[in-house]
Amino acid sequence: MEYIVETNKLTKRFGKEYAVEAVDLRIPKGEIYGFLGPNGAGKTTTIRMLLGLMEPTLGNIKVFGKDLKRERIGILKKVGSLVENPSYYPHLTAYENLETIRKIYGVPKKRIADVLEIVRLSEVTNKKVKGFSLGMKQRLGIASSLLNKPELLILDEPTNGLDPSGIIEIRNLIKRLSKEEGMTILISSHLLSEIDQIADHVGVISKGKMIFQDTIDVMRRQSQKKISLKVNDYERANRILISNGMKADFSIDSITLPEHHDEDIANIVRVLVENNISVYRIEEEKRSLESTFLQMTAEERGL
Ligand SMILES: Nc1ncnc2c1ncn2[C@@H]1O[C@H](COP(=O)(O)OP(=O)(O)OP(=O)(O)O)[C@@H](O)[C@H]1O
Ligand SMILES: [Mg+2]
Repeated sequence: MEYIVETNKLTKRFGKEYAVEAVDLRIPKGEIYGFLGPNGAGKTTTIRMLLGLMEPTLGNIKVFGKDLKRERIGILKKVGSLVENPSYYPHLTAYENLETIRKIYGVPKKRIADVLEIVRLSEVTNKKVKGFSLGMKQRLGIASSLLNKPELLILDEPTNGLDPSGIIEIRNLIKRLSKEEGMTILISSHLLSEIDQIADHVGVISKGKMIFQDTIDVMRRQSQKKISLKVNDYERANRILISNGMKADFSIDSITLPEHHDEDIANIVRVLVENNISVYRIEEEKRSLESTFLQMTAEERGL
């Protein structure tokens, strides 16, 4: 797989505190990557390092396969970003605000109209930004991050503070950019529900550590219903199941069955009982994606 962003043991320490600790971030090309974590988890710190705004304490960062430290300028030319609350000149219009940034990038003036069109703000091109709603300001921030036609777009909590319709607007915008422009997009959030609906890949960070990174489908599978068994001898029970060609995950105090057709469960119990294993309990664990996420981050918080 080709990764647009690849970090290796990325670490940032503030004094004695690790804000980010040994994070191996992998963002596949052309995908929407959801970077999830509760407040203070280390999302913004990671993003600042990816954008060269902050020096890592340890570890390295590759973007487009190149070392960020060595090829910073060349890399950042192809990256667009929106980190925390963007600042504007309220007394200037949308167009004038974008013009100040366009000059820095040196892209043609025509690009301003294009990006305003992409974020659906063409109608307010010449309106002063001080009259904009939060959602409009957020879209203007995304417009400015698109001025340089980035191949990689990094959005730090772009829906923060927006109402449900504002959130949907931004979500659709991100999907459109991914599909129509083929952009690779990193979007951070503390809400799983937001990431769930747009991301292909998810990274969950908690207390500075990456505790899950895979496709959203894998995360969904992990959160499906499971059957857990309480028996008198887990190791032996597990051996019996394996030698009978049955699949199960076993730990020191439970056996969990990924498959949960009624007939499978009945078979497993029969085989165990025939082999003199005492089956004490059969429990069904129902977990939503949200509770999987909460549990992942709770374990890390020591709850
Ligand atoms: N400049 C700094 N100096 C000292 N500590 C910092 C600094 N920046 C961040 N931190 C600490 O690093 C940790 C991670 O913060 P960070 O802003 O990266 O989290 P976050 O995941 O973006 O959270 P949020 O969802 O609230 O935006 C926090 O404990 C924070 O207090
Ligand atoms: Mg943050």
